Amino acid sequence: MNIANNLFSVLLILIGLLGNLSAHAADDSFQPIRGQPGKDVIWIPTPPALVTAMLSMAKVTPSDVVYDLGAGDGIIAITAAKQFGARSFGIEYDEKMAQFARRNAQQAGVADKVKIIHGDIFVEDFSQASVVTLYLLPSLNLKLRPTILQMKPGTRVVAHAFDMGDWEPDQTAQAAGASAFMWTVPAYVEGEWEVKGLPGAASARLSLRQSFQRIGGNLHLAGYSQPLLGARIEGGQLSFQFMGPNNSLQSVTVTVNGAAMSGSVKANYDANSIEAKRL
Ligand SMILES: C[S@@+](CC[C@H](N)C(=O)[O-])C[C@H]1O[C@@H](n2cnc3c(N)ncnc32)[C@H](O)[C@@H]1O
Repeated sequence: MNIANNLFSVLLILIGLLGNLSAHAADDSFQPIRGQPGKDVIWIPTPPALVTAMLSMAKVTPSDVVYDLGAGDGIIAITAAKQFGARSFGIEYDEKMAQFARRNAQQAGVADKVKIIHGDIFVEDFSQASVVTLYLLPSLNLKLRPTILQMKPGTRVVAHAFDMGDWEPDQTAQAAGASAFMWTVPAYVEGEWEVKGLPGAASARLSLRQSFQRIGGNLHLAGYSQPLLGARIEGGQLSFQFMGPNNSLQSVTVTVNGAAMSGSVKANYDANSIEAKRL
Protein backbone atom coordinates (compact mmCIF):
# COMPACT_ATOMS: atom_id res chain seq x y z
CA MET A 1 0.00 0.00 0.00
CA ASN A 2 2.83 2.35 0.99
CA ILE A 3 4.78 1.48 -2.13
CA ALA A 4 1.66 2.12 -4.24
CA ASN A 5 1.14 5.49 -2.50
CA ASN A 6 4.79 6.45 -2.99
CA LEU A 7 4.67 5.51 -6.66
CA PHE A 8 1.50 7.57 -7.06
CA SER A 9 3.21 10.59 -5.40
CA VAL A 10 6.26 10.26 -7.65
CA LEU A 11 3.94 10.06 -10.65
CA LEU A 12 2.13 13.23 -9.57
CA ILE A 13 5.44 15.07 -9.12
CA LEU A 14 6.59 13.94 -12.58
CA ILE A 15 3.31 15.06 -14.17
CA GLY A 16 3.68 18.40 -12.38
CA LEU A 17 7.26 18.80 -13.61
CA LEU A 18 6.33 17.90 -17.17
CA GLY A 19 3.41 20.32 -16.98
CA ASN A 20 5.73 23.08 -15.83
CA LEU A 21 8.28 22.27 -18.49
CA SER A 22 5.69 22.32 -21.26
CA ALA A 23 4.24 25.60 -19.90
CA HIS A 24 7.74 27.10 -20.00
CA ALA A 25 8.37 25.71 -23.46
CA ALA A 26 5.09 27.30 -24.64
CA ASP A 27 6.01 30.66 -23.02
CA ASP A 28 9.48 30.61 -24.55
CA SER A 29 8.03 30.20 -28.02
CA PHE A 30 5.63 33.16 -27.61
CA GLN A 31 6.01 35.71 -30.40
CA PRO A 32 3.86 38.86 -30.23
CA ILE A 33 1.91 39.92 -33.29
CA ARG A 34 1.73 43.61 -34.28
CA GLY A 35 -1.72 44.92 -33.40
CA GLN A 36 -2.47 42.20 -30.85
CA PRO A 37 -4.91 43.40 -28.21
CA GLY A 38 -3.71 44.75 -24.87
CA LYS A 39 -5.75 45.84 -21.86
CA ASP A 40 -6.24 49.49 -22.86
CA VAL A 41 -4.33 49.64 -26.14
CA ILE A 42 -2.98 47.23 -28.75
CA TRP A 43 0.72 46.41 -29.11
CA ILE A 44 2.66 48.18 -31.84
CA PRO A 45 6.36 48.70 -31.16
CA THR A 46 8.06 52.10 -31.39
CA PRO A 47 10.62 52.01 -34.25
CA PRO A 48 14.20 51.75 -32.89
CA ALA A 49 15.26 55.09 -34.47
CA LEU A 50 12.41 56.89 -32.70
CA VAL A 51 13.21 55.15 -29.39
CA THR A 52 16.76 56.55 -29.63
CA ALA A 53 15.41 59.99 -30.61
CA MET A 54 12.95 59.97 -27.67
CA LEU A 55 15.59 59.04 -25.09
CA SER A 56 18.07 61.53 -26.61
CA MET A 57 15.45 64.30 -26.46
CA ALA A 58 14.97 63.49 -22.75
CA LYS A 59 18.79 63.62 -22.34
CA VAL A 60 18.77 60.26 -20.54
CA THR A 61 21.98 59.53 -18.61
CA PRO A 62 23.15 56.65 -16.38
CA SER A 63 21.75 58.49 -13.36
CA ASP A 64 18.19 58.37 -14.74
CA VAL A 65 15.42 55.96 -13.84
CA VAL A 66 13.27 55.40 -16.93
CA TYR A 67 9.74 53.93 -16.77
CA ASP A 68 8.02 52.82 -19.96
CA LEU A 69 4.27 52.60 -19.38
CA GLY A 70 2.96 49.72 -21.47
CA ALA A 71 6.34 48.11 -22.13
CA GLY A 72 5.42 45.77 -25.00
CA ASP A 73 8.52 43.82 -26.08
CA GLY A 74 10.66 46.03 -23.81
CA ILE A 75 12.35 48.01 -26.58
CA ILE A 76 12.29 51.36 -24.76
CA ALA A 77 13.39 49.99 -21.37
CA ILE A 78 16.13 47.89 -23.01
CA THR A 79 17.43 50.77 -25.15
CA ALA A 80 17.45 53.10 -22.12
CA ALA A 81 19.75 50.63 -20.35
CA LYS A 82 21.88 49.49 -23.26
CA GLN A 83 22.45 52.74 -25.17
CA PHE A 84 22.06 55.29 -22.36
CA GLY A 85 23.22 53.33 -19.28
CA ALA A 86 20.03 54.13 -17.32
CA ARG A 87 18.20 51.89 -14.89
CA SER A 88 14.86 51.14 -16.43
CA PHE A 89 11.47 49.64 -15.72
CA GLY A 90 8.70 48.58 -18.05
CA ILE A 91 5.13 48.04 -16.88
CA GLU A 92 3.23 45.57 -19.06
CA TYR A 93 -0.24 44.15 -18.43
CA ASP A 94 0.02 41.16 -20.77
CA GLU A 95 1.87 38.44 -18.85
CA LYS A 96 3.29 36.66 -21.90
CA MET A 97 4.43 39.99 -23.30
CA ALA A 98 6.09 40.85 -19.97
CA GLN A 99 7.94 37.50 -20.01
CA PHE A 100 8.93 38.09 -23.64
CA ALA A 101 10.31 41.54 -22.72
CA ARG A 102 12.30 39.98 -19.83
CA ARG A 103 13.81 37.44 -22.23
CA ASN A 104 14.67 40.26 -24.64
CA ALA A 105 16.42 42.15 -21.82
CA GLN A 106 18.39 39.03 -20.98
CA GLN A 107 19.39 38.49 -24.63
CA ALA A 108 20.43 42.14 -24.86
CA GLY A 109 22.69 41.60 -21.81
CA VAL A 110 20.94 44.23 -19.67
CA ALA A 111 18.79 42.02 -17.41
CA ASP A 112 20.60 43.53 -14.39
CA LYS A 113 19.45 47.05 -15.34
CA VAL A 114 15.96 46.38 -16.73
CA LYS A 115 13.00 45.30 -14.64
CA ILE A 116 9.78 44.38 -16.38
CA ILE A 117 6.82 44.62 -14.03
CA HIS A 118 3.77 42.55 -14.89
CA GLY A 119 1.05 45.02 -13.94
CA ASP A 120 -1.36 47.78 -14.86
CA ILE A 121 -0.03 51.28 -15.52
CA PHE A 122 -3.06 52.68 -13.68
CA VAL A 123 -2.21 50.66 -10.56
CA GLU A 124 1.60 50.36 -10.41
CA ASP A 125 3.64 53.12 -8.78
CA PHE A 126 6.06 54.87 -11.15
CA SER A 127 6.65 57.95 -9.00
CA GLN A 128 10.39 57.13 -8.73
CA ALA A 129 10.90 57.74 -12.46
CA SER A 130 13.03 60.64 -13.64
CA VAL A 131 11.91 59.88 -17.22
CA VAL A 132 8.53 58.44 -18.24
CA THR A 133 7.88 57.15 -21.76
CA LEU A 134 4.49 56.42 -23.34
CA TYR A 135 3.14 55.01 -26.56
CA LEU A 136 -0.52 54.69 -25.67
CA LEU A 137 -3.52 56.73 -26.87
CA PRO A 138 -4.51 60.42 -26.46
CA SER A 139 -7.24 59.47 -23.95
CA LEU A 140 -4.79 57.36 -21.90
CA ASN A 141 -2.19 60.16 -21.90
CA LEU A 142 -4.89 62.48 -20.55
CA LYS A 143 -5.93 59.92 -17.92
CA LEU A 144 -2.30 59.68 -16.74
CA ARG A 145 -1.75 63.45 -16.83
CA PRO A 146 -2.89 64.26 -13.25
CA THR A 147 -0.57 61.55 -11.88
CA ILE A 148 2.31 62.78 -14.04
CA LEU A 149 1.79 66.39 -12.93
CA GLN A 150 2.15 65.24 -9.30
CA MET A 151 5.60 63.81 -10.05
CA LYS A 152 8.86 65.40 -8.98
CA PRO A 153 9.39 68.71 -10.83
CA GLY A 154 11.92 68.17 -13.60
CA THR A 155 10.67 64.67 -14.49
CA ARG A 156 10.75 64.36 -18.29
CA VAL A 157 7.85 62.74 -20.10
CA VAL A 158 8.19 61.56 -23.68
CA ALA A 159 5.27 60.26 -25.71
CA HIS A 160 5.33 58.61 -29.11
CA ALA A 161 2.61 59.92 -31.44
CA PHE A 162 0.10 61.35 -28.98
CA ASP A 163 -0.04 64.62 -27.08
CA MET A 164 -1.28 65.67 -23.63
CA GLY A 165 -4.19 67.88 -24.66
CA ASP A 166 -3.71 71.52 -23.66
CA TRP A 167 -0.36 70.80 -21.92
CA GLU A 168 1.86 71.90 -24.79
CA PRO A 169 5.05 69.94 -25.38
CA ASP A 170 8.39 71.63 -24.70
CA GLN A 171 10.06 69.82 -27.58
CA THR A 172 9.31 67.44 -30.43
CA ALA A 173 11.41 64.92 -32.35
CA GLN A 174 10.92 62.98 -35.57
CA ALA A 175 12.43 59.71 -36.73
CA ALA A 176 11.35 56.75 -38.84
CA GLY A 177 8.43 58.79 -40.17
CA ALA A 178 6.94 59.15 -36.66
CA SER A 179 6.83 61.92 -34.05
CA ALA A 180 7.43 62.16 -30.33
CA PHE A 181 6.70 64.94 -27.83
CA MET A 182 8.47 65.87 -24.62
CA TRP A 183 7.28 67.69 -21.51
CA THR A 184 9.07 68.59 -18.27
CA VAL A 185 6.94 68.36 -15.14
CA PRO A 186 6.75 71.92 -13.76
CA ALA A 187 6.69 72.73 -10.05
CA TYR A 188 3.31 74.00 -8.92
CA VAL A 189 3.79 77.68 -8.09
CA GLU A 190 0.41 79.32 -8.68
CA GLY A 191 -0.61 81.57 -5.78
CA GLU A 192 0.77 84.23 -3.46
CA TRP A 193 4.35 84.32 -2.18
CA GLU A 194 6.26 86.55 0.20
CA VAL A 195 9.75 87.34 -1.12
CA LYS A 196 12.64 88.60 0.98
CA GLY A 197 15.92 89.97 -0.31
CA LEU A 198 14.77 91.97 -3.36
CA PRO A 199 16.26 95.45 -3.72
CA GLY A 200 14.07 98.36 -2.61
CA ALA A 201 11.91 96.52 -0.06
CA ALA A 202 12.42 94.33 2.98
CA SER A 203 9.56 92.19 1.78
CA ALA A 204 7.63 91.93 -1.51
CA ARG A 205 4.58 89.99 -2.64
CA LEU A 206 4.73 87.82 -5.72
CA SER A 207 1.42 86.78 -7.33
CA LEU A 208 1.86 83.91 -9.77
CA ARG A 209 -0.56 82.48 -12.29
CA GLN A 210 0.24 79.19 -13.96
CA SER A 211 -0.97 77.06 -16.82
CA PHE A 212 1.39 74.05 -16.85
CA GLN A 213 4.81 75.53 -17.84
CA ARG A 214 3.34 78.93 -18.76
CA ILE A 215 3.75 81.50 -16.00
CA GLY A 216 2.45 85.03 -15.55
CA GLY A 217 2.13 87.30 -12.57
CA ASN A 218 2.83 90.50 -10.73
CA LEU A 219 5.35 91.70 -8.22
CA HIS A 220 4.09 94.08 -5.52
CA LEU A 221 7.16 95.92 -4.31
CA ALA A 222 7.62 99.16 -2.32
CA GLY A 223 4.02 100.28 -2.83
CA TYR A 224 3.68 99.60 -6.54
CA SER A 225 2.82 96.59 -8.66
CA GLN A 226 4.34 95.55 -11.96
CA PRO A 227 3.92 92.60 -14.35
CA LEU A 228 6.68 90.02 -14.40
CA LEU A 229 8.82 90.07 -17.53
CA GLY A 230 9.79 86.85 -19.34
CA ALA A 231 8.56 84.55 -16.56
CA ARG A 232 9.45 80.89 -17.15
CA ILE A 233 9.32 77.69 -15.20
CA GLU A 234 11.41 74.71 -16.17
CA GLY A 235 10.95 71.81 -13.79
CA GLY A 236 11.74 73.33 -10.40
CA GLN A 237 13.50 76.46 -11.74
CA LEU A 238 11.48 79.68 -11.84
CA SER A 239 12.93 82.76 -13.48
CA PHE A 240 11.61 86.23 -14.30
CA GLN A 241 12.73 89.83 -14.60
CA PHE A 242 11.33 93.06 -13.21
CA MET A 243 12.21 96.76 -13.12
CA GLY A 244 13.96 97.56 -9.85
CA PRO A 245 14.90 100.88 -8.26
CA ASN A 246 16.17 103.49 -10.76
CA ASN A 247 14.77 101.41 -13.64
CA SER A 248 17.48 98.79 -13.25
CA LEU A 249 16.49 95.47 -14.82
CA GLN A 250 16.57 92.77 -12.13
CA SER A 251 16.76 89.04 -13.01
CA VAL A 252 15.43 86.53 -10.53
CA THR A 253 16.21 82.80 -10.60
CA VAL A 254 14.90 80.56 -7.83
CA THR A 255 14.57 76.86 -7.14
CA VAL A 256 11.13 75.83 -5.94
CA ASN A 257 10.96 73.40 -3.06
CA GLY A 258 7.31 72.84 -2.14
CA ALA A 259 6.11 75.91 -0.26
CA ALA A 260 9.53 77.61 -0.35
CA MET A 261 11.79 79.08 -2.99
CA SER A 262 15.41 80.18 -2.79
CA GLY A 263 17.83 81.66 -5.27
CA SER A 264 19.23 84.98 -6.36
CA VAL A 265 18.43 88.34 -7.87
CA LYS A 266 20.96 89.86 -10.25
CA ALA A 267 21.35 93.35 -11.69
CA ASN A 268 24.41 94.17 -13.77
CA TYR A 269 27.22 92.51 -11.79
CA ASP A 270 25.45 92.48 -8.40
CA ALA A 271 23.87 89.29 -7.11
CA ASN A 272 21.95 88.86 -3.86
CA SER A 273 20.31 85.86 -2.24
CA ILE A 274 16.54 85.80 -2.01
CA GLU A 275 14.03 83.56 -0.26
CA ALA A 276 10.29 83.17 -0.72
CA LYS A 277 7.55 81.35 1.08
CA ARG A 278 3.95 80.62 0.19
CA LEU A 279 1.41 82.91 1.87
C1 LIG B 1 1.46 50.60 -28.40
S1 LIG B 1 2.25 49.39 -27.37
C2 LIG B 1 3.77 50.23 -26.94
C3 LIG B 1 4.87 49.29 -26.50
C4 LIG B 1 6.19 49.98 -26.13
N1 LIG B 1 6.01 50.97 -25.09
C5 LIG B 1 6.79 50.63 -27.34
O1 LIG B 1 6.72 51.87 -27.44
O2 LIG B 1 7.30 49.92 -28.22
C6 LIG B 1 1.28 49.50 -25.84
C7 LIG B 1 1.53 48.38 -24.85
O3 LIG B 1 0.81 48.69 -23.65
C8 LIG B 1 0.28 47.48 -23.11
N2 LIG B 1 -0.85 47.87 -22.25
C9 LIG B 1 -2.11 48.19 -22.63
N3 LIG B 1 -2.84 48.57 -21.57
C10 LIG B 1 -2.03 48.46 -20.47
C11 LIG B 1 -2.20 48.72 -19.08
N4 LIG B 1 -3.34 49.18 -18.58
N5 LIG B 1 -1.16 48.48 -18.24
C12 LIG B 1 0.03 48.02 -18.75
N6 LIG B 1 0.24 47.77 -20.05
C13 LIG B 1 -0.76 48.00 -20.92
C14 LIG B 1 -0.08 46.66 -24.32
O4 LIG B 1 -0.16 45.30 -23.98
C15 LIG B 1 1.08 46.99 -25.27
O5 LIG B 1 2.14 46.09 -25.11
